[in-house]
Amino acid sequence: MEIIQTPQEMQQLSSRWKCEGHSIGFVPTMGALHAGHLALGRRAREENSRFVASLFVNPLQFGVNEDLSKYPRPFEEDCQMLRDAGCDALFAPSAETMYGISTHEASLHVPHTYVEVAMLGEVWEGVVRPGHLRGVATVVAKLFNIVLPQRAYFGEKDFQQLRVIEQMVQDLNFPITIVPVETVREADGLALSSRNAYLSAEERAAAQVLSRALCEGVARARAGESDAAQLGVHMQQILDAKPQIYVQYLTVVDANTLDSLAHLDGRPARILIAARVGQTRLIDNMPL
Ligand code: PAJ
Repeated sequence: MEIIQTPQEMQQLSSRWKCEGHSIGFVPTMGALHAGHLALGRRAREENSRFVASLFVNPLQFGVNEDLSKYPRPFEEDCQMLRDAGCDALFAPSAETMYGISTHEASLHVPHTYVEVAMLGEVWEGVVRPGHLRGVATVVAKLFNIVLPQRAYFGEKDFQQLRVIEQMVQDLNFPITIVPVETVREADGLALSSRNAYLSAEERAAAQVLSRALCEGVARARAGESDAAQLGVHMQQILDAKPQIYVQYLTVVDANTLDSLAHLDGRPARILIAARVGQTRLIDNMPL
């Protein structure tokens, strides 16, 4: 596996591979890799003749009081996991080479050009974490222009992020297919996340109710409940059993527009949840 640190070198390698007729499958990450990331990698490996991953803790998508400085960075372990997953190249730039400015300046959000996806980027995470999805869209647009993939793989775990990227690709005519990959979970249902490492043993045990509440909503919808408020009441009861959990939003949305739905009416829908478990913020979702 080649490890590449500058956008220029990555573009050169990708351009050469494309001239040679290779297809490039791309998995962007912030590292601290787990089986969720590897599920994306497996798809990229299977469906393309070249598999490129990126590892970049993007300052632009962290708020001032968020966990940018303490975000886990086990670089050597991540490299080994990617080698084992058959990755051909890892793009791991510094904030300076990505944005042409220092990490500190980037954390203050001062680059020159942003990509902002209106509507889809303004609700839910857009409200709780202002600037976050703009930071994501901006870095992913840059990564697409640097890695030049045919296909890029994103987890349904971050469902709003996935929708924002799909909309950006459509609106800005990126010649890239976005491939969604199902959420990988622990045995008790907790969605894998690099941030799960922050949880104490007690918080980890409590965090299980997030997926339990979502499963309850899915089961009740399957059994015929179509009133979103009713689904919410039953899900909230499960969450209320754990005092460590503070719910930021719990909502049934149209899976395309992310608008709240009062009633399930047959169109694709999704339940989204964001909660703090102690000091750690977790998000999850399930399809209805
Ligand atoms: P990161 O949190 O490292 O996630 C990288 C990719 O892995 C995302 O597409 C995410 O949805 C996916 N992923 C995370 N947990 C998953 C799970 N349990 N099952 C399946 N897929 C999972 O998301 C980011 O990084 C960044 O915002 C990024 C897109 C790299 C831009 O900086």
